Amino acid sequence: MGKNLLVTGLQWGDEGKGKIIDVLSRQYDAVVRFQGGANAGHTVHVGEEKFVLHLVPSGILHPEKQCIIANGVVVDPECLTEEIEALKARGCDVDGRLWISDRCHVVMPYHKMMDGLQEAELGDRQIQTTRRGIGPCYADKAARTGIRFGELVDPEIFRPRLRQALDVKNRILTRIHGADPIDFDDVWDSYHSYAERLKPFVRDTVDMLHGLEREGKSLLLEGAQGAMLDINFGTYPYVTSSNVCSGGATVGAGLPPSSIDDVLGIVKAYCTRVGGGPFPTEQDNEVGAYLREKGNEYGSTTGRARRCGWLDAVALNYTVRVNGVSSLSLMLMDVLSGLPEIRICTGYRTGARTLEGFPSDAGALERVEPVYESFKGWEADIADVKRFDQLPEAAMDYVAAIESLTGTQVKMVSVGPKRSQLILRD
Ligand code: GDP
Ligand code: IMO
Ligand code: MG
Repeated sequence: MGKNLLVTGLQWGDEGKGKIIDVLSRQYDAVVRFQGGANAGHTVHVGEEKFVLHLVPSGILHPEKQCIIANGVVVDPECLTEEIEALKARGCDVDGRLWISDRCHVVMPYHKMMDGLQEAELGDRQIQTTRRGIGPCYADKAARTGIRFGELVDPEIFRPRLRQALDVKNRILTRIHGADPIDFDDVWDSYHSYAERLKPFVRDTVDMLHGLEREGKSLLLEGAQGAMLDINFGTYPYVTSSNVCSGGATVGAGLPPSSIDDVLGIVKAYCTRVGGGPFPTEQDNEVGAYLREKGNEYGSTTGRARRCGWLDAVALNYTVRVNGVSSLSLMLMDVLSGLPEIRICTGYRTGARTLEGFPSDAGALERVEPVYESFKGWEADIADVKRFDQLPEAAMDYVAAIESLTGTQVKMVSVGPKRSQLILRD
């Protein structure tokens, strides 16, 4: 793979990006988050220990790596402070190698309140967000009313900015939503103390990244969420509020497109979705329940049960193209063991018509009927398989089908959550 690698989710998130970033980190000098926020939950297993990272890049468990939270990320200082303390308590020191862009927008308490209040207004059309304030924070960024980290860590700037912001937000909270206003002193006290704590980590990460590039260092770009949750290309409005797809990495990190050498797409061997919105291959039946239990499909951030279903090659083809994916890593393959039959959706039908391409409208996607191709399952437990040719015949056939349906090579097959449970193909 090229010098700088972008790792991105191709479904609805939770594909296993954290595991792959952790494994690949060894080969890179710095790991960079470039979009999303604490809505992400990236799980990394190190020996018997399990870490769930929300804002800190998943390379942090390798002590010599630089970890950068670049400008495109929206950062909740409370969440980040807790995450740093929790890592320290478990022996992972982040000082001198974790960096936050001064251009990152700050998630404020009113963003988190608005997230919940706006959801309540939607009735049965709820997005079922993570309630981490992501949408309202990106909305303020686009409206040019947000507060950035560079401002947060300068009390002389932050104080009047907070007063001005609360003046407007409290009117919206009380008059439109009938909620209680937010107290200036409460926010000032807590946010001022987060600012003091986080100040040493804040810097111009554009300069830093370009400096690393000049020195010939290699970058691993860590996507959060998945392409089907992208604000432009996902199942709008049931999406997150950031540019999840590969284009987002350049604006989210301040790197030119030419500095991204390769795009590795992370794909679960089946599909999951947490939250509302269309999901054509959902199996709200015993197959879905089997996948949920065997795959432990409960949200790493919110603990919510994930909706489960068959792999959707129509959606996957679309996200492979939008991202310019050059190879795939197929995750949670072990979860499929024991199913007598495995299906892949290879087309969408409405009435007698088979759709061309992927519909842009969530309502249209809701109405499609998936056309399935059926594959033979396998009984054997594959969690200890180390080489591709040691997989059951049916499992190899399944991987070959995914390669042929997407026109993309599967370079890695993951058969368990541990670092060692990864089959590399050359
Ligand atoms: P991310 O958001 O893409 O980083 O993924 P999450 O961490 O939210 O969810 C993936 C879950 O699957 C985590 O609990 C991982 O530990 C787990 N996992 C990753 N790869 C595998 C695998 O190959 N097999 C199994 N059984 N679990 C895996
Ligand atoms: P990782 O990085 C799965 C979903 C939420 C909701 C929608 C919008 O762990 O793959 P938001 O809070 O972003 O406004 O919620 O997006 N969502 C995720 N689902 N994995 C994630 O991140 C997600 N981040 C957001 O459930 O449906
Ligand atoms: Mg996750």
